[in-house]
Amino acid sequence: MSHQLAIEHDVIGVGFGPSNLALAIALDESARKFRLKCAPLFVEKQPRFTWHGGMLLPGSDMQISFLKDLVSLRDPTSPFTFVNYLHKRGRLQDFINCRTFYPSRLEFNDYLRWVAAQFKSQAVYGEAIVAVEPVMAGQSVTSLRVRSRTLAGDETVRLARNLVVAVGGKPFIPEMFADIADDRRLFHSSVYLDTVGAAGLGRKATRVAVIGGGQSAVEVTVDLRGRFPEASIDLIFRGHALKPSDSSPFVNEIFNPDYTDFIFAQPGERRDAIVRNFRNTNYAVVDADLLDQLYRLLYQQRVSGTTGVELHPRSEITGVKAAVEGIEIGKVDKFEGRDSRSCYDAVILATGYDRETPHAFLEPIRRYIRDAAVDRNYRLATSPAFRPQVHLQGYSESSHGLSDTLLSVLATRSQEIAESLLSTISRRELIA
Ligand SMILES: Cc1cc2nc3c(=O)[nH]c(=O)nc-3n(C[C@H](O)[C@H](O)[C@H](O)COP(=O)(O)OP(=O)(O)OC[C@H]3O[C@@H](n4cnc5c(N)ncnc54)[C@H](O)[C@@H]3O)c2cc1C
Ligand SMILES: NC(=O)c1ccc[n+]([C@@H]2O[C@H](COP(=O)([O-])OP(=O)(O)OC[C@H]3O[C@@H](n4cnc5c(N)ncnc54)[C@H](OP(=O)(O)O)[C@@H]3O)[C@@H](O)[C@H]2O)c1
Repeated sequence: MSHQLAIEHDVIGVGFGPSNLALAIALDESARKFRLKCAPLFVEKQPRFTWHGGMLLPGSDMQISFLKDLVSLRDPTSPFTFVNYLHKRGRLQDFINCRTFYPSRLEFNDYLRWVAAQFKSQAVYGEAIVAVEPVMAGQSVTSLRVRSRTLAGDETVRLARNLVVAVGGKPFIPEMFADIADDRRLFHSSVYLDTVGAAGLGRKATRVAVIGGGQSAVEVTVDLRGRFPEASIDLIFRGHALKPSDSSPFVNEIFNPDYTDFIFAQPGERRDAIVRNFRNTNYAVVDADLLDQLYRLLYQQRVSGTTGVELHPRSEITGVKAAVEGIEIGKVDKFEGRDSRSCYDAVILATGYDRETPHAFLEPIRRYIRDAAVDRNYRLATSPAFRPQVHLQGYSESSHGLSDTLLSVLATRSQEIAESLLSTISRRELIA
């Protein structure tokens, strides 16, 4: 075990994805502006910065304008804009010639990595936070003891005055697949690229099932078709049809930063109704261009009299069994009552993500947390004897709206959290 207790960090950020990366910039910029010294540390479990690496498919594009990068909506003159990244990479003019607001996910990942590299001294990689414990002075909790662990099992303990949790969503494995979750032929879309190469799908007559009807399911289906032209791919989903995501301009205003104030001010049941009403902007829906691409692919199969990809709408899965010859899936057509059973060499769960709170690593301080809900500045309500601030990024969709799990409000949310954190850090002149 390694101990690093001597240094007390002003803030420890759990996870170093886009949310805490945006916070690193906001803290740095605000601290300079207010002449405060702030020493954050971000602890990331991946060995290097990667934004949903298992889904960095060659053909996939961003679902949000590049102008909603980590900073532009707060300060378009920041050196961390996507435009400055393009300029530094020598691609600004060529990007303009692409005439798009939606760069590839590969390019946006490279942008995020470029920013992360500039905060190298504030980040450690390859360590997962496993426990956050109270440090007591009498009856008060004055700071936090933060334990992290590497894959090899080495543990490090650090002290933090405040904590910002931004660990994203957890791949959702439906209950009926839980018993065979360890079977190597079954995997979640979040690890698609890491796993598909080793899944032995290159043979003739390989059978693959993709479960789900959202963006991930269709991206994976189209990618599989390109990768393994001989494979039979069943796309199994519960809805009547694959539906487009609503990204029309008036609807898109729900992702404006000031909409967060509007929704936060509503009573609980109205917030729920708004989130429900606009779910089709984000969940179980597919980018319209990708739907066209899949439709053309299916049509072309009919023209050439071939098979390959087959859609199974209205299908409820009734049973799952791991056998030697493959994973057997039973399903029923919900409307015609027809049962069927098929065996697959691989099953890919494109079943989305879970965002449960409080996180297991917060268990040791749970008794100080009064309510799982956060305030407008994303701070957990804690008991008076608990002095550290604990902020959450990405777990407040029900109170702050659908933008909360996305990139839309990162520039403003990070600023709000940075100001809340800096308000407690004592005023110290910057050392030049
Ligand atoms: C494939 C895919 C594509 C997407 N594309 C878009 C898009 O185009 N536009 C958009 O607005 N949104 C998109 N999203 C939504 C996505 O949630 C956001 O883009 C963004 O990733 C949220 O950032 P985050 O930092 O909150 O979470 P994440 O990006 O999930 O980052 C969390 C980080 O925390 C780390 N971590 C987890 N647990 C621990 C732990 N215990 N200790 C230390 N580190 C930990 C993880 O390794 C990860 O790096 C996409 C989501 C997916 C799955
Ligand atoms: N290129 C990109 O930018 C990109 C790529 C991929 C993902 N994303 C983003 O990532 C987020 C998540 O998208 P996602 O497609 O991974 O997840 P999602 O939108 O949450 O969709 C999950 C799908 O799984 C289905 N499902 C869940 N539980 C099921 C069960 N028990 N049995 C059968 N089906 C089940 C859901 O069906 P029901 O509707 O029937 O519940 C839904 O169709 C979205 O914000 C999306 O935009 C972006």
